[in-house]
Amino acid sequence: MLTASNQHQMIMDEASIYGIIGEEGFTRLVTAFYRQVPADDILGRMYPAKDLAGAEQRLRDFLIYRFGGPQRYIEERGHPRLRGRHLPFRIDQAARDRWIQLMNKAFTDAALPIEVEQFLRAFFEQMSTFMINSG
Ligand code: HEM
Repeated sequence: MLTASNQHQMIMDEASIYGIIGEEGFTRLVTAFYRQVPADDILGRMYPAKDLAGAEQRLRDFLIYRFGGPQRYIEERGHPRLRGRHLPFRIDQAARDRWIQLMNKAFTDAALPIEVEQFLRAFFEQMSTFMINSG
């Protein structure tokens, strides 16, 4: 059976994404995402209001590490264990859908190359569903 990451690799080599969009591309995307968080009625109260810049940096560094860039995230945070790290937050279908909605808006704002956008959108769709931990 194909794993999710094998399916992705058939479309493009995921480690090449950093080479295409660089730090700057990931920064644009993640900044556009977090810009929407404080005013959001579901996500606004989940994220740390006093450390939104830190949260922004953690997501950006994770994506950079995951898609072929420097390993800063691992050096600072260790193994991602993303599902475990999300357990303190109550993530139901509505929170998951809202996260994707904000990320989709961020893609529109960031205007990344279309092949990168398609790849990352598919990645987020899967990962966000995996993060659901509450009915
Ligand atoms: C399904 C909806 C999601 C919700 C509601 C959610 C919410 C959160 C919250 C509240 C935090 C804590 C912010 C912080 O202080 O860092 C967080 C952290 C984080 N999230 Fe999510 N998240 C979701 C999906 C995702 C997805 C799809 C990814 C990646 C593909 C992701 C990656 C991360 C990372 C890398 C961190 C920082 C982890 C750490 O090192 O502590 N999240 N998320």
